[in-house]
Formats: sequence, structure tokens, C-alpha cells
Amino acid sequence: MSVNRTSIHGQWSSRWAFILAATGSAVGLGNIWRFPYLTGENGGGAFVLVYLACVLLVGIPIMMAEILLGRRGRQSPINTMETLAEEEGLSRHWHLLGWMGVIAGFIILSYYSVIAGWTLSYILKTGSGAFIDADAALTQGIFTDLISDPKKLLLWHSIFILMSVVIVARGVKNGLEQAVKILMPALFILLLIMVGYAMSTEKFLEGISYLFIPDFDALADKNLFSDIFLPALGQAFFSLSIGMGAIMIYGSYLPKESSITFSCFTIAIADTSVALLAGIAIFPIVFSYGLEPAGGPGLIFITLPIAFGQMPFGTFFGSLFFILLLFAAWTSGISLLEPAVTWLVENKNMSRVKAAALAGVITWLLGIVTVLSFNDWAFSFSFAGSIKENGLFDIFDILTSNIMLPLGGLLVAIFAAWQMSESSTVEELGLGEGRAYQAWRFAVRYIAPAGVLIIFLNATGLLNVFSS
Ligand code: TRP
Repeated sequence: MSVNRTSIHGQWSSRWAFILAATGSAVGLGNIWRFPYLTGENGGGAFVLVYLACVLLVGIPIMMAEILLGRRGRQSPINTMETLAEEEGLSRHWHLLGWMGVIAGFIILSYYSVIAGWTLSYILKTGSGAFIDADAALTQGIFTDLISDPKKLLLWHSIFILMSVVIVARGVKNGLEQAVKILMPALFILLLIMVGYAMSTEKFLEGISYLFIPDFDALADKNLFSDIFLPALGQAFFSLSIGMGAIMIYGSYLPKESSITFSCFTIAIADTSVALLAGIAIFPIVFSYGLEPAGGPGLIFITLPIAFGQMPFGTFFGSLFFILLLFAAWTSGISLLEPAVTWLVENKNMSRVKAAALAGVITWLLGIVTVLSFNDWAFSFSFAGSIKENGLFDIFDILTSNIMLPLGGLLVAIFAAWQMSESSTVEELGLGEGRAYQAWRFAVRYIAPAGVLIIFLNATGLLNVFSS
């Protein structure tokens, strides 16, 4: 059946506009802040290897499926799932998948915004020369001062939420393209400069081998599934912005004739390169300055300022770096709001401005939990072989990335490859029915669901593949 819907929220001007916006969504704090600190907590090379496998085998096929559903439904993820399910003669309960995404989006943005707030604060700190000739003790002290002050965190968090609401209220298509086109490449170049600095440190090779060579001895006392595979899987979902409808709603603005496959690979390659570059820039500094790789969420805020304090024009490059990181976070943050906002516009008859404001208030309130989890409400617990020190923030993060996103992705895969008729997916992907299509179908039908399920079941101990 040929389907030709249009979105009431508009359309990207071209395939490239979509690729830029989706790359803007994918590349963000997940690549530069989350990837390095998780790599450090989870022992380095083995984690990176599993992460790359998850991106390729699970992430890309599911991303294609999510975009395909979005473009076919052309509405908010909740309504898209409902419409498509109806069209394919399936249960309308599929729209619950959209709801889970909306909830995940609120939770993720609520803490994402607090971390983006750190970035805001670091633009000023770096720009004022606070890190000139700083050693690790100083950068650590400055970071601890920031996170122990709930008022400061709340201020920066509020500013970031406001920034995101403003863009979403105007419609994500307006003005975003230009910003992403210039700022993303700039961030990329700045990361290369940081890698250049890393090469000048004593322990460059140690950093690189930590990142790329799995240390099997260090794995001996770990549970592979819960300590390595699950966090790596979660990171793949988080970094690619899949599993909660963000890419689905962006896909709903994609012109009919644009290639989903080409777009996906472009986005995934850009996203993965940024994460790897961030790792290459950071770990040599970690080792050269005797820092702890498992230092937790503060890792980049403690390591990179040391580099900025040492390198020529460091004050300039440092503040520019945090400005660009803020932009990267901004273009990601808006995509976390978009699924909820489009639903409010479609079903509650709200204007975009009102819907964005309402979604902003909800996330802002929820963000207060994260603000306090770094100070007044802090508690620690052990998860996946490492100690998590920031109670509710860590719980939010684990709940969304390691559970809700993979579960959302699993359901997307099941819907697209087991529930929808094959002719619908053939038509929407536009690859014909040849090898490329069959490869995708095999991946979403078997590899991705099996990957997610095996990791879930083993990590929770329900199944034990490697029981010892
Ligand atoms: N991918 C973004 C990052 O790496 C964060 C993000 C944006 C996201 N939209 C998402 C994560 C949707 C999960 C789901 O910074």
C-alpha cells in the first residue's frame, strides 16, 4: 500500500537538512562527556569494542527502522505508532511505545540540561583564565566547588532549558540548519586540536592503547553482560539518539524521496568519530596527570581544562571548545523535547509555543532532582562493577539509557520487522528487495532484537550464557 501523508509540523528542505539536524541530535554530551567517562568506568578497550559492535549491529538497523516509521506516520511518535498499527491491522496499544519515549525524553533532558549547565559555567571559567597552568588538584577543586553548589547548578540548568524551549517553540527546522552546518565542523576541528595536544603529552600511547586494546586481565573479575555489554548498548542508543522517538519525529519531516540508508550511515559515522576523537583527546591527559580513568561524570571537566591551561592560546581554545560543546548539547536537547511537543500540538490543540513551554516546565522541575543529586541528596551505590556516587542522577541515567532506550529500540525493531507487512518497509526504505534490503531486514528481525534480549536477560541474571 502506498502511503502519502504530510506532516502538519512541516518538512526538512532536503535530505541534507535532515542529516544535519539528526547529526545535531546525535552529537552532543553523549559523545564528549558520557562516552569517555563510561569508557573509563568500564575498563577501556573492551568497552569501546563492544560499543562499536552495538552501533553497527544494533544501532544502525534500529535507527533506520525508527526513521522509516516516522516518515511513514508523519506525526508525533505516539500518533505515528497508533496510525501505523491501525493501518497494519495491529493493536493500538503500540502507541504506548510513543508514551515510553516521551517519558524517557523528559527524564533524559532533565539531567542532560544540568550537565549542559556545567558546560555553560565552564565557558566562563575557562574564558576568565581560571585554568592557566592548572594542575589536576586545581581542576578537581574547581569542579567540586561547582557541583556542590545547588544554586549555581539550578541557574545554569534553567538557562539551558530556556534555550531549548526557545528553539523548539520556533520549530526545530528554523535556523537549526545554519547553526549545525557551521558549528559541528568547528567542534570537530577543535577536537582535532585537542588530539594534537594529547599527542604532545607523555602518555599519548598509553591513552590510545587504553582506548583501543582490550585488557582481558582486567575483565577477569567482571560480569561481561552487566558490566560491559549493557552500558555499551545503552551508550549506543544514547549517542545515536534512538529508542525514544527523537529520530522518529525527525524522520517524520524527511522528504519522501530521500534515502534513509545513506542518511543513517552518515549520521552514525559522524557520531562515532566525534566520540572516538573525544576519547583520544582525553585519556592521554588522564594518564599523564595521574588521574583516575574511572573518575565518573566529571572526567572531561577535570581533564580538558588542564590541557587548556597548558597549550598556547588555551584560554581562547578552551572557551571556544565549551561554547561549541554547548551548541552540540543544544541541538541534542531540542530533539528530546520534540516528540512530546508535537503530541501536545496534535492532541491538545496547543500552539507550539505553549506546548514547548509546558514541556520545558516539566523537565525543569524534574531537573531539580539531578541538581540535588550532586550535593544535598547525594548517595552512592554500586552498579555494573563501578561505584556510582550521584544517587538519583545515576538512577535516571541508568533507567533511561540502559533500560528504556534499548527496550524502545527492541519494540521498534519488532514492529518494523515482525509486525509491519514486508511490502510497507520495502516501499518506505526504497532500497528495492535486493541484498541491501535483505541485510537490513535480517539485522532488525534477528540480530538487533537478539542482541538487546541476550544482553538484557544476562545482565539481570535471568539467563546465564557464560555461567562460571
Ligand atoms: N544523542 C545525544 C548525545 O549524545 C543525546 C540525545 C538527544 C538523545 N536526543 C536523544 C539520547 C534521544 C537518547 C535519545 O548527546
